Amino acid sequence: MATIGLDILQAQRLLKAGELVAIPTETVYGLAGNAYSEEAVLRIFSVKQRPSFDPLIVHASCIERIEDFVKDLPTEAQQLAQHFWPGPLTLLLKKQASIPDTVTAGLPRVAVRIPSHQLTLRLLQALPFPLAAPSANPFGYISPTTPQHVNNQLGNQIPYILAGGACSIGIESTIVGFEQGKPMIYRLGGISVEAIEQVIGPVTVADYTTTSPQAPGTLVRHYSPQKRLVVGDIPELIKQYSHQRIGVLAFDQYHTNIDPKYQVMLAPSARLEEAAQNLFAALRQLDQLPIDLILAARVPHTGIGRAIHDRLRRAASNNFIE
Ligand code: TXA
Ligand code: MG
Repeated sequence: MATIGLDILQAQRLLKAGELVAIPTETVYGLAGNAYSEEAVLRIFSVKQRPSFDPLIVHASCIERIEDFVKDLPTEAQQLAQHFWPGPLTLLLKKQASIPDTVTAGLPRVAVRIPSHQLTLRLLQALPFPLAAPSANPFGYISPTTPQHVNNQLGNQIPYILAGGACSIGIESTIVGFEQGKPMIYRLGGISVEAIEQVIGPVTVADYTTTSPQAPGTLVRHYSPQKRLVVGDIPELIKQYSHQRIGVLAFDQYHTNIDPKYQVMLAPSARLEEAAQNLFAALRQLDQLPIDLILAARVPHTGIGRAIHDRLRRAASNNFIE
């Protein structure tokens, strides 16, 4: 198992030696390596068992550092960066040659973000290179939001996990790129569509069914528990699946007819932010229970609710019921 600790110096030493370290961010934990090192990057793909066509996000501590490895920052990108960085926003920007092609899966643009987590920002400031870091989970599984989640799945493959507590946002960053100058959201995430539109005006949200390698973040089946997941009206679904052992991902109240020990509540406060924070841990918890099927309640499609809905939809894949 990996060592879990707060030693930034140790993390720094390991990363400089070409090793991988799990790092906390406000969204989810990342599996980090030197973004300028082809070898470290290949190791990330291999530890995650991630297909090489699915590119990585590069993390930096400030805009000046980002300018070292991207070609230019369009005006709207600058506006978004000013508003939301450090924070759960990733921008797709033209890359310089210093970023190996393996990072971007051969694409001309690199995904970039400044995360909002004090430990990781201090680590990034202390390093002479940016960090490539996908979510620290095996490819296709639920993203980790605690050091323990990382240790359970990748602990025997990495030496160190920087312990930054439970992630405060709990859902991955929103990915924004520009096509012929027009802003496009490639992945819904921690910053809502509404918040982005307040800064740069109307944006298009890429269709979630896309499976094109141009936008691999939109792979349909993703963020999945091992158990089958169905999203919809819980009382209806309970009736429909009464012959199976059911677990329920409830929103703000437990459902009758199902033992509460087979239910996990996302947001006792009914706040969507709280639901996002708890989503991935709740899915992991349900995945461990002796049940056949997870039933998930629908969430409102506003604010971060839209990203929660997107993750549930991908976790459910073709078992989604509108
Ligand atoms: O919140 C986050 O973004 C977290 C934390 C660790 O920063 N990272 C994360 O990384 O979610 P990952 O690798 O699990 O998801 C990043 C997604 C990928 O699925 C990929 O499709 C997309 O970003 N992506 C990365 N680079 C891209 C590029 N150059 N063009 C298009 N999509 C890209
Ligand atoms: Mg991921």
